[in-house]
Amino acid sequence: MQSRLHAHIGTIRQLEILLAVHDKGGINEAAKALFLTQPTVSIQMKKLAEAVGEPIYRFTNRKLVFTETGLEMVKTAVEVLDSFARLDMSLGKMRQGQSGTLRIAVVTTSKYFIPHLLGPFCEQFPEIDIQLNVGNREQTIERLKQGIDDFYVFSHPPIDSDSDSIELLQNPLVAIAHQAHPLAQQKQVSLKQLCQAPFLIREKGSGTRHAIEAFFKEHELNPNVKMTIESNEAIKHCVMAKLGISILSAHTLTYGGQNDLIRLPIKELPINAKWFFVWSKSKRQTVIAQQFLEHIQSNGRQLLEQELQRNGIES
Ligand code: PGA
Repeated sequence: MQSRLHAHIGTIRQLEILLAVHDKGGINEAAKALFLTQPTVSIQMKKLAEAVGEPIYRFTNRKLVFTETGLEMVKTAVEVLDSFARLDMSLGKMRQGQSGTLRIAVVTTSKYFIPHLLGPFCEQFPEIDIQLNVGNREQTIERLKQGIDDFYVFSHPPIDSDSDSIELLQNPLVAIAHQAHPLAQQKQVSLKQLCQAPFLIREKGSGTRHAIEAFFKEHELNPNVKMTIESNEAIKHCVMAKLGISILSAHTLTYGGQNDLIRLPIKELPINAKWFFVWSKSKRQTVIAQQFLEHIQSNGRQLLEQELQRNGIES
C-alpha cells in the first residue's frame, strides 16, 4: 500500500522553505531570503521532518548539514516546484492563446478543404493542438447539441437559435458519371434520364443525401437507387467502376486526369448549397477559438477560393 506521504506534507510553501534552507546553507539565511522570521523557518522544517519521520539536517561543527533523507526531499521539492513553474508557463500561454487545443467537427464532405484553413493558422500558432472530428451531418449535429467542439462546418446546418454561423463559400452538388457511360455521350441529360440510371447515394444522416432528396422531391421524381455508400471517396470509386452515377459536392472532385469521371450536363443542376462555419452561442469561447474565428473571418474565404482554384475545383 502507498504511504501517501504527500498528504502529510503541509504545503508547497514548506518545500520552498526547504529549498531555501538547502540553497542558502542555513536557517537564518533562508529566513532572510524569504522575508520570514527565523522561528517560522525552523517550525516549518520541523513539521517537514515530522512528516517524513526522520531528521532532514543535523549540525556538525555548528554547520547545517543535510541528511540523506533531507537531500532526497530536496530532489523531490525541485521536481515539484519545477512542475508548477511549467504549469504556470503553459497556463500563461493558454491565456494568451498561444497554446491549448482547438476542437473542430466537420461533415465528411468538407474534409477536402478544411485543412487549408487550418494550415496557415497552425503556422502562426505552432504550439496549438488541433482535434478534428469528421462525421456525417447527423453525427456532427449531435456534437453541436452536446457542445463538444469549438466550431463546426456544415453545408446544411441545423435550424437552431442557439448557434451562429458565417457563410464560407458555395457548395455546388453536381451529377457525375464514368466518361464511358451512355449519358456521358449526350450534350444534354434530362432529369428523367438521370432517374432511370442506377444511382449511388450517401447513407441516411448525410447532408449530401439530405440535399439530393430535397432536390428530387421538389422535382417530383425519384432516383433509381442501386447502392447506399457511406463515403464520398467510395462513391467516386464505384462510379469509376461503372456501378452507376451519382450526385456529389464538386469539392470532392477533380475532373479529367486519371479518374475517368465527367460531370453530366443537366440544366437543373448543380444543387446550390453553401458551406457554413458554425459555433454555439452558449459555449464560452477560449482565446484560441476567438483567434481562429478572427482568422476565418479575415482570411477564410480567400484561402479557400485560392486553394480550390489551384486544384481546378469549382467554387
Ligand atoms: P455529409 O455532409 O458529409 O454529411 O454528406 C455534407 C453536408 O452537411 O451537406
